[in-house]
Amino acid sequence: MDVADKVSIITAAASGIGKATARRFAELGARVILVDINEGALTAAAKELAEAGYAAQPEACDITNQEAVQALVRRVLEQRQRIDVLVNAVGWGNIEPFLDGTLAYWQKLIQLNLMGTLIMSHAVLPSMLARQSGSIVNLASDAGRVGSLGETVYAAAKGGVIAFTKSLAREVSRHGVLVNCISPGPTDTPLLREHAGTGSVIEKMVKAIPMRRIAQPEELANAIVFMASRENTYITGQVLSVSGGLTMSG
Ligand SMILES: NC(=O)c1ccc[n+]([C@@H]2O[C@H](COP(=O)([O-])OP(=O)(O)OC[C@H]3O[C@@H](n4cnc5c(N)ncnc54)[C@H](O)[C@@H]3O)[C@@H](O)[C@H]2O)c1
Repeated sequence: MDVADKVSIITAAASGIGKATARRFAELGARVILVDINEGALTAAAKELAEAGYAAQPEACDITNQEAVQALVRRVLEQRQRIDVLVNAVGWGNIEPFLDGTLAYWQKLIQLNLMGTLIMSHAVLPSMLARQSGSIVNLASDAGRVGSLGETVYAAAKGGVIAFTKSLAREVSRHGVLVNCISPGPTDTPLLREHAGTGSVIEKMVKAIPMRRIAQPEELANAIVFMASRENTYITGQVLSVSGGLTMSG
């Protein structure tokens, strides 16, 4: 997969899927900008990459803060003159019945899972459209495709990400910007461990997965990098489940 020299902003780059994705982009010669709200973990992730011989620029930022995101994008454009790739990987949620939820919890879910993706995309798109070139890859969830018990509002927000991806692709693909979704099934990250709690919950998930195992973050990273690579010349507005066959949406 060819992403050499592509200026690539990866959000949620300090943990899980975002971190593995940033590493894969770096290994393939992309110019990686790591974005995360967790400064300590972000510094550690950039240090890990540096120790492995890859340059990566850490940028602490809350992707739900539009002013901060716009300042970040301005800074990157001043330094690098272009942004080729945006990977929107931030997401979060708990497992609980819908009726136990509060307005504040729903708002947090919508902010982190949907609004941040809108804010990031809105900030980078003008420069991509001006150059008639770019790729945006959004992390959805199979919860947003087929529903998920205990993740009602998270699923609604991820369904929003999917609808946003398709509609945005209709708007910008004619101008050379491709927009796609990767939709993970259960993936071995801190988010899943926090969700699932005990091993028995993960064991139950595994029984439902045709491949009989959860994903490793690197397996998601490969699919994300492909969508943003020079090999992807004609895929846009699509949702690709990387879930070991757990979901097979038509
Ligand atoms: N892990 C799974 O099983 C799974 C399944 C389906 C979908 N997903 C989706 O994949 C994506 C990555 O998930 P993960 O499991 O790697 O998550 P993770 O919890 O391991 O990492 C999330 C990262 O996002 C950062 N973050 C949180 N709020 C932020 C903000 N406001 N601004 C900037 N950074 C912020 C956190 O600091 C953390 O480093 C998410 O969108 C998630 O919803 C994950």
